[in-house]
Amino acid sequence: MLTSHTAEAVQRALELGYRLLDTSSDYKTQPGIGKAVRRCNRPRESLYIVMKVEPEENGYDATTRNLEELKLAYADLVLIHRAPEKGVGERLWEQLIRARDDGLTRDIGVCSYKIEQLKTLAENTSEMPAVHQLEWSPFGHSLDMLSFCSGHEIVLQAYSPLTRGKRLKDERLAAIAGKYNKSPAQIILRWNLQHGVVPIPKAYREDHQRTNLDIFDFMLDEIDMGTLDGLNEQFSALEKLDYL
Ligand SMILES: NC(=O)c1ccc[n+]([C@@H]2O[C@H](COP(=O)([O-])OP(=O)(O)OC[C@H]3O[C@@H](n4cnc5c(N)ncnc54)[C@H](OP(=O)(O)O)[C@@H]3O)[C@@H](O)[C@H]2O)c1
Repeated sequence: MLTSHTAEAVQRALELGYRLLDTSSDYKTQPGIGKAVRRCNRPRESLYIVMKVEPEENGYDATTRNLEELKLAYADLVLIHRAPEKGVGERLWEQLIRARDDGLTRDIGVCSYKIEQLKTLAENTSEMPAVHQLEWSPFGHSLDMLSFCSGHEIVLQAYSPLTRGKRLKDERLAAIAGKYNKSPAQIILRWNLQHGVVPIPKAYREDHQRTNLDIFDFMLDEIDMGTLDGLNEQFSALEKLDYL
């Protein structure tokens, strides 16, 4: 049921023009995503498929197992799903480096690491993550993290960018949306793009999928970017912003 539900939503998204698919074994979406990717008429190299491994797993074996679940030959990005409770996961990182060197993935990265943890990981393994995926919205983000990552050529990916719908009715956000004749969700996604951050909204509904793609025909001005930055109150739609 979940597999066909996921496959249907992903297939429609691919037809609409989406290219990046974010998954993880614990989302139970891998079989459905794999199915949609195989069914669509897009060349594999035009897609960008993101997978995750858990801190307690062997990174190489977990990457292989996830690829088997997706029935794909390679991923575009494999991320450590969260920072380990102790240390920064150097061993796991070395396993991911090996997986990348063996062609199982094009790039490797992490989720929700603190700046200090990123520095330690790079110092102890001589390799910075290519991508850092973290919870990120105008209501909860860190411009210090953005500046650190830009300085080290780490791409930020914003998860739960729409606050799981919890802050979309904020009046200050609605005022900016009215000015551009866009929806609050579109304003948030555009704010991400203008900061050089890649938002990964989840949308099952077709109208949401369409709306979230329709963000390339306007620019937020500097004042509105500043207002949106100023909404930051370290809000988390999940529990807390682990990277702070
Ligand atoms: N690395 C990690 O630890 C981690 C953790 C959490 C999430 N993630 C990733 O981030 C992705 C997105 O995060 P998320 O699902 O937590 O939250 P989200 O993208 O902030 O919110 C998803 C919710 O917003 C709704 N929505 C989508 N587009 C909308 C629009 N234009 N207007 C109004 N509502 C809209 C969706 O509805 P419908 O679905 O009904 O259309 C869904 O209920 C996940 O799918 C996952 O891939 C990663």
